[in-house]
Parts: sequence; structure tokens; C-alpha cells
Amino acid sequence: MTLTPEHTHRIAPVDDRAATPDMRSLIDRRQRLQHDLETGADPRAATRQHAGGKLTVRERIDLLLDQDSFVEVEPLRRHRASGFGLDKTRPHTDGVVTGWGTVDGRTVFLYGHDFRIFGGSLGEAHAEKIHKIMDMAASVGAPLISLCDGAGARIQEGVTALAGYGGIFRRNVDYSGVIPQISVILGPCAGGAAYSAALTDFVFMVRGISQMYVTGPDVITAVTGERITHEQLGGADVHAGTSGVAHHAYDDEQQCLEDLRHLLTYLPSNNRELPPQRPTRDPVHRVNTALVDLVPTDPSHPYDMRTLIAEIVDDHAFFELNEAWATNVVCALAHIGGQPVGIIANQPTVLAGTLDIDASQKAARFVTFCDAFNIALITVVDVPGFLPGVVQEHNGIIRHGAKLLYAYCEASVPRIQLIVRKAYGGAYIVMDSRAVGADLSFAWPGNEIAVMGAEAAANVIFRRELATAEDPDASRAHSAARYREELAHPYYAAERGLVDDVIDPASTRHTLARALNMLRSKHATLPERKHGIRPM
Ligand code: HXC
Repeated sequence: MTLTPEHTHRIAPVDDRAATPDMRSLIDRRQRLQHDLETGADPRAATRQHAGGKLTVRERIDLLLDQDSFVEVEPLRRHRASGFGLDKTRPHTDGVVTGWGTVDGRTVFLYGHDFRIFGGSLGEAHAEKIHKIMDMAASVGAPLISLCDGAGARIQEGVTALAGYGGIFRRNVDYSGVIPQISVILGPCAGGAAYSAALTDFVFMVRGISQMYVTGPDVITAVTGERITHEQLGGADVHAGTSGVAHHAYDDEQQCLEDLRHLLTYLPSNNRELPPQRPTRDPVHRVNTALVDLVPTDPSHPYDMRTLIAEIVDDHAFFELNEAWATNVVCALAHIGGQPVGIIANQPTVLAGTLDIDASQKAARFVTFCDAFNIALITVVDVPGFLPGVVQEHNGIIRHGAKLLYAYCEASVPRIQLIVRKAYGGAYIVMDSRAVGADLSFAWPGNEIAVMGAEAAANVIFRRELATAEDPDASRAHSAARYREELAHPYYAAERGLVDDVIDPASTRHTLARALNMLRSKHATLPERKHGIRPM
């Protein structure tokens, strides 16, 4: 990673020719302070930050925002604490840079810990600055981005520091579903501090410099005897691939912040807006010839669902979330006909595309996010069912699978189901069937929609006949074929209005684009209540 020299956000030069001597001295003082803000209280701290492979907070802000768009709030704020030597060090900013700027011309608010000052730890003044910027973001209706690189609660400030965190958590929740909130972890994020990130909509991490955990390696060794490094315990790959806490892991900060800018292009600034349309030269009626042969007719043969997604979206481009976790379901943001959509799709290459605990949670969270921010949902179904197994049952697949069901049932955005090969049992219902509220459902001709696969169905309903059959295998195959022909095909569902049409795979993009266009002004009312009790 190339470390750029620190860029600065200078105050505009003041024309002080007409100023009185008193005023001139005050202006001089403000300009001298600017130097402090740029270098940090101790210039050696910036060198240490670079030596650790990290950018400084102001370099990060420069990379994230449009050039010269940053406006800092409370740069002159200092703490008023006095204990444990704090009275001798009162650096400006109090270790957090807050303000607003633009990304592609759209306003965003941010705060970024300055690790060079008290390790970016959070004290009373530091917390109040964050509270103020969060309140501003919510009242203006613009996304909030946190650049996290801090040591947690400032030890010297005791309970006031803890209360400061409480104020952040409360605001994270109050503004959840009101403005997009994105956490970028660019240093340590330990203890209670990690919960703020967990309460936000997206978490991005960078390999080698970001670590998140509730209790660090030392405490773990003391309590359980286990030995583990910071990176092994809570590094970017651990959270992006194992715990699912992070949506993405990056190799460096530049890549991470660039991707964050890209993510914002899919999102509205707040829940009262529709997400921004993106002009495209990709015609909506583009014929998807590639789809005709993509999906093998044998329901047990895998293919990569991402190829299918790329074929139907604008410019073959989509933004996948949690791409290294619960990969049996794909969640991605994309555009169709310029309109942002959230795509949820079973991935046949992983666990045959079954839904398990992690996949249910991943998809449920994504559906809830899209619904909160008016992003239409496209659900691409090729699902054999929920993953069977003792581990899944004992770990609560019923409870976790219910999260996905709840998320869909509650969603009031435009919802379109596309069944491409098979849709069996409870998983068919959960994956946005008409019965749980999809506005439209389309199916490709060759697929099976049924309570279970034809062979399994034959085993149950023709059990007695099979037991006495001369050639049980031939009888089973015959019975399965009969079941498939009579019941397990999309025309059966279409005759009953559970599928709106059986479509040619080559016309998928056009079909979806026209449906989305029609549903753009959809308005749904939900029953009045304080809130439902979602399965947790
Ligand atoms: C005040 C702190 C501090 C803290 C570090 N510093 N942690 N100052 N409060 N919590 C100071 C150090 O004294 C040092 O100051 C500077 O920050 C950099 O710290 P180093 O240790 O030199 O940096 P590094 O080696 O990179 O280690 C970073 C670290 C480590 C892993 C974050 O400092 C650490 O473990 N700190 C303690 C973390 C912690 O326990 N925080 C409380 C978590 S509980 P000088 O002057 O030497 O540069 C919590 C509760 C939240 O946050 C509850 C919410 C409900």
C-alpha cells in the first residue's frame, strides 16, 4: 500500500487587513491551531501510524470523500477531564474527527477515530462529538460512516466514557432503517465498541490492521487457557468468512474505501427516498440466450448462480455482500433497467443451495435492509430445501429459518420471485413465494415446484405398491415420473395462480425489468402496531 503524504483541510485564508489588533491575534491563534490539527498533538504518532501500515484519519477522509468536500465540525473541541494526567494533555479534536462531505456529489456524515490521540479512545467530549454528528446525519437524512480505529473506552474517564458508548448505541438503533449506517474497521475495535459496528448496516474490514472482538487474546488466555493472535481471533478474514460479522475483507484501505463509495451508489440517502436510478446503455430487452443452457436439467447438477445473476442485471455488474460467508445463498445489490434491486439467490455450488442457519440469517438481514431502504427484491429460487442434520436442528434451524420467513412476510417493497429449476417444501414457501407476499412470481419451464423431489415423493405416496413390486427400482422410477408429470411442474402452479407466468429463460431480463417498472409506485400498508416480535 502506498502511503500518501497527509492531506489537510485548511481553513480559508482570512483577509485580516481591516482587523483590529485583538481580532488579528485571535485569527492568528486559529491559524496556528490548524497546524496542530493537521499534524496531531505529537508528529511522531503519525509516523508510528504509517509504520503500522495504517493511514491517518485525515488521509482516510481524503480517500473517501470527493476532493475538498470535507467540512469538519468541532475541530477545536477538547476534553475537560483532569484525572490521571489528562489535565496535562488536552489535544484538539479529542481524538475523533467529525464532519460531513460528499461522495459522488451526495452528502454523507462521518466520524473517524484519530489513533494518534489517546489511541483514539473514547471519552466524554469525544463521544459528544460523535453523538452530534449522528444526530445531524439523521436530521438531514444522509448516510453515516464511521472510520473505527480506537482503543475503546478511555480508561482515565471511567463511567463517563461508558455512558458515551451508550449514547452511540442508542442512536445506532434510533436511526436504524432511517439512514444507512456503515462501519469501516481500520484498527482495533474491542469490547463494547464492537457492538456499535454490529448495530450498523454494513461492516467493512482490512486484512492485517482491523481486529474486532468482545474480549481480546490476553483475557481469553487468562480465562480459558486458549492461545490465539489478534488476527486469528478477530481479523478481517475471520469476520468475513467465519462469524459473518463483516460484509467484506479487503487487502488495503484504499480498496476498502473505494468499494464503500461504490456501495453508496446503490443506496438512497434515507428511508424517505427511493434509491437513485443509474443510467445504463444495457437494453432492458437484451435477450439472455446464455441462460437457456446454463442450468442443467438434472436437479442435482450444480452451476454457478452468479453467472445467472450477471446475465440478467445491467452491464453484468453486481455488488455481492458477505461473499465469503454462508455462500449457499448469494445476496447482492445490482441494477435492472437502471433501478437498484436486492437479489437473493440460492447457490447450487455450495451445499446444493440448501438453506441452513447462516444462510437464513444472512438473507433475512439483507431482505430487512432492502425493505427499510426501498430497494426492490428479486428472489432467484433453486432450492432443494432446508439443510437436514442433527447439528442444524439442535442449533435452531427452526428459529433461524423463521427469521428469513419473517423478513419476507414483513417486506413491503416490490418483490419478484423467479423460480429457475426446483423449489421444494418449506424452502419454496420461504423464498418469497406468492403466498408470503411476492407481488409477482415467474418460473422457467423445466422446473419442479412441489412438496419434495419426485423420487422422495414416490417413496412416500407409493410406499405400499413399491414394497410388493416385482422390480421396485423400475416402479419407483415410473411413479416418480408420474408425480413429475402430473404435479411437480410450473404449469400446475401457474394454473392455480401461484406462478404468474412460465417464461422463456431468454426473456428473463426483459420480464423482470417490465415488472420492476410497473411495481415502482407500489404502496403497501401494514397493520398498525408498535412492532412485531421477530424471531431472534
Ligand atoms: C486511554 C489508551 C487506551 C484506552 C490505549 N491507550 N488504550 N488511552 N484509554 N482505552 C493509549 C496508550 O496508552 C498509548 O498512549 C496509545 O493509546 C496507543 O496505545 P498502544 O498500546 O501503544 O498501541 P497498540 O500497541 O497499537 O495497542 C492498541 C490496543 C491497546 C490493542 C488498543 O492499546 C489496548 O489493548 N488498549 C486497551 C484497550 C481496552 O481495554 N479498552 C477498553 C475496552 S472496554 P501513548 O501516550 O503511549 O501514545 C470498552 C468498554 C466499552 O471499550 C463499553 C461499551 C458498553
